[in-house]
Amino acid sequence: MSSDEKKKAAALAALEYVESGTVIGVGTGSTANHFIDALAKTKGKLDGAVASSDVTAERLKKAGIPVLDLNTTGDLPLYVDGADEATKHLHLIKGGGGALTREKIVAAASEKFVCIADDSKLVDVLGAFPLPIEVIPMARSLVARALVKLGGEPVLREGFTTDNGNIILDVHNLKILNPVELEEKLDHLAGVVTNGLFARRPADVLILGADDGVKTLT
Ligand code: 5RP
Repeated sequence: MSSDEKKKAAALAALEYVESGTVIGVGTGSTANHFIDALAKTKGKLDGAVASSDVTAERLKKAGIPVLDLNTTGDLPLYVDGADEATKHLHLIKGGGGALTREKIVAAASEKFVCIADDSKLVDVLGAFPLPIEVIPMARSLVARALVKLGGEPVLREGFTTDNGNIILDVHNLKILNPVELEEKLDHLAGVVTNGLFARRPADVLILGADDGVKTLT
């Protein structure tokens, strides 16, 4: 089974968590896209969705799903999104698509976060995937120097601006043994908007598409 087929299988399995007449949060990326395509076939089931990026908002609209503003919906029962890396503790690295800030906001507003991925994303220790950090442009060098002091190797994501008008530094060479502590430390650096560690608010359910079917970790 290809990695894309595994992503699709995980996305289809997440439909089970969607209840009729609700508004849910929807993430960004190729796995989330499979989820949106699957939602499109259950038209009318949802009252609407909160999107974690402009790209996702467009795809939801095309699928006939009303896109709502989080400021008008209140808390959400469910958020479904992919990840770049995940551990069995359901700690994640996200932001490969650069949507980490809105993703973290929607995750924080959601009662249940269901993460969908292919099984290659499951790792023992986070950090082989470069950790994305959204930074206010004027703080680029300041934050980069602080990241070097923390043992990382920050690389500017060239030609990329986030939906919020900021830059992304992808931090290589981090072996993240304590993701909760590092997430907190990075959030305290002046100029950092959001870091891609989802550990303080991890996923609640991790659905992994694999060759021998879909596996669910809670
Ligand atoms: C976007 C994300 C995505 O969830 C992550 O990059 C995984 O993407 P894909 O589903 O395409 O493998 O965090 O910011």
